[in-house]
Amino acid sequence: MTDRYAVFGNPIAHSLSPKIHAFFARDTGEELSYEPILVPEGRFADKAHEFFCDGKGCNVTVPCKLDAYAFADVLTPYAEAAGAVNTLKKLEDGRIEGDNTDGRGLTADLKRLGVKLKGSKVLVMGAGGAARGIIRPLQDENPVLITIVNRTIEKAKKLAEHFGVTACSYEELSAEYDVIINATSTSLNGTLPPLTDEIFRKASFAYDLMYKPDGETVFTKKAFENGCTGVADGFGMLIMQAALSFELWRCVKPDVTKAINYFRAC
Ligand code: ATR
Repeated sequence: MTDRYAVFGNPIAHSLSPKIHAFFARDTGEELSYEPILVPEGRFADKAHEFFCDGKGCNVTVPCKLDAYAFADVLTPYAEAAGAVNTLKKLEDGRIEGDNTDGRGLTADLKRLGVKLKGSKVLVMGAGGAARGIIRPLQDENPVLITIVNRTIEKAKKLAEHFGVTACSYEELSAEYDVIINATSTSLNGTLPPLTDEIFRKASFAYDLMYKPDGETVFTKKAFENGCTGVADGFGMLIMQAALSFELWRCVKPDVTKAINYFRAC
């Protein structure tokens, strides 16, 4: 029987994951199926139990990442640190392992783009689920400083304390960062976090976790216009986190550069 995989979420029809995993499967010669599964409110555990009768693994997207965290029998350190799960895998003994590949997807994409994190000063904007998911993998790369800045300062302080990094408000922020990461939801509605132009001028790279078909978000546009030499949206991260899930399930590394080029051209 063909090994079965899926992505759970709501909404789910727009998800690129089935196309990305079909591309990886074709490209690596792995035989598998991958389907989108719509999760009605409050029904994640039922749907996941049903799926894992014969399913091998799944991705989990909004709004089910916390439900998947609760559903998993065992968690990887990345899932634990993120407090959320985007990948589930059925282990040989039948237990379900929860991982989170989002943050490692970001650091892998930054490496692909030639961004040096070791010894760098990194600014993370936002203190919600997206920010929480990337801090531990960023710490693995040994930057000299990670600062979380958030509109609601209490949330930034709480998250910073949890990971042993620093926090500040937008008003207190100095322009001393090498890499600026937008983990707020602002690009979704075309707005911007309140950053000074100087912060962009001094930075060498600005990365937005959100992505746009043409690769430009309001955030990357603003950074570029202010002289930040390197900018990228989160499309590479999307492909990278999918590749890490694929590798976890199949023990085969997909060609991510080929996938990024292919889907960018679509
Ligand atoms: P996600 O799971 O995508 O991280 P979230 O948990 O709702 O979503 O978090 C959204 C983040 O974007 C928060 O850090 C939020 O700031 P607050 O904690 O102060 O709400 C941030 N955000 C949203 N709109 C913003 C804006 N206009 N300016 C600055 N930050 C904003």
